[in-house]
Amino acid sequence: MTFYQNPKSIKAFDAKFEAQKIAFAPVAFQVARCLLKFNILAYIDKAKGENCSRSDIASQCNISEYAAGVLLDMGLSMGLLWLKDEQYQLDKIGDFMLNDEMAKINLNFIHDVCYQGLYDLDASLLEGKAKGLKVFGDWETIYPTLSELPLEAKKSWFEFDHFYSDFAFEALLPLIFQHQPKTIVDIGGNTGKWALACTGFDNKVKVTIMDLPGQLRVALANAKTQGVADRVSGFECNLLDENTPFYSGGDLYWMSQFLDCFSEQEILTILKNTAANMRPDSELCILETYWDRQPFEAGAYCVNATSLYFTAMANGNSRMYHSKDMLKLISKAGLFVDQDIDNIGLGHTLLRCKLKP
Ligand SMILES: C[S@@+](CC[C@H](N)C(=O)[O-])C[C@H]1O[C@@H](n2cnc3c(N)ncnc32)[C@H](O)[C@@H]1O
Repeated sequence: MTFYQNPKSIKAFDAKFEAQKIAFAPVAFQVARCLLKFNILAYIDKAKGENCSRSDIASQCNISEYAAGVLLDMGLSMGLLWLKDEQYQLDKIGDFMLNDEMAKINLNFIHDVCYQGLYDLDASLLEGKAKGLKVFGDWETIYPTLSELPLEAKKSWFEFDHFYSDFAFEALLPLIFQHQPKTIVDIGGNTGKWALACTGFDNKVKVTIMDLPGQLRVALANAKTQGVADRVSGFECNLLDENTPFYSGGDLYWMSQFLDCFSEQEILTILKNTAANMRPDSELCILETYWDRQPFEAGAYCVNATSLYFTAMANGNSRMYHSKDMLKLISKAGLFVDQDIDNIGLGHTLLRCKLKP
């Protein structure tokens, strides 16, 4: 990690501006969302500087001149737009806001899942509970009720989750099948994307998904639609319960973007439980994004910001970890890391673990 090791080299004048940007950050966020939602950025992009006055934009995007005016002015201040002869033009940041898939997915996730609940971040931090979750229901954690979230929230949650893991899955398949596992146990397998990727890659492998009942229903339906119901099975469990049933003797145990859903104490229990159910030659592969392992500062920013989703919305006690914290827990659970590979997909790290002799 080459960033965060020194104080930022920035003039006081500019630092004061940055502080104001943070103070107004929710305004900027909602302005960007509205510029996208009302197709203003898309219109300006297409128009390429022609018919792009404030009144043109208002009439083309079906909003009042007042609405166009306040959004466009702030769009200038945010560096999304610039003005040439009273005609609005898309600037580089606006181009990414409009066309970058990651920016779109992150923005929808923050708006649809986190925005309202983050108001209760302070209470969540003080109580160690996801106090923001009450905007969706009277639940302790988000996971057992993922499939009951309002439509937009559910869509944005799954798109966020899948965007990051899908990128990594592609690159990982040859690595994971290096030792030709016949049985893979996907712990926290969610909608079955990894199970389907595995059955597509290897026509003999069998995958058991361990997850909560709501997610298993979706995963098994997906396996059926893809014609691999005979090779994908479900194993219902609640890993927060120490006495949960656990699949024993798999060749390869797989945890992708899973351990970040738990506190350190819970991770230790889950890892010990996994170790107790592994054969001496089983492998455990852990795929996570660690903020200290990000190749770019932008990655660390996104990973650290995601931690606060866990605090306010998911469970109040988990986070995106520093790799050293995870490595300590792995060792405490009686496992050792055989292979440690960074920069998979979008800043993922694969830790390939085995039982200590
Ligand atoms: C963030 S998703 C990861 C999905 C998938 N592995 C991926 O890489 O995209 C976490 C998964 O862990 C499951 N999970 C959360 N808490 C659980 C628990 N207590 N017991 C079993 N599974 C749980 C959730 O249902 C969800 O499917």
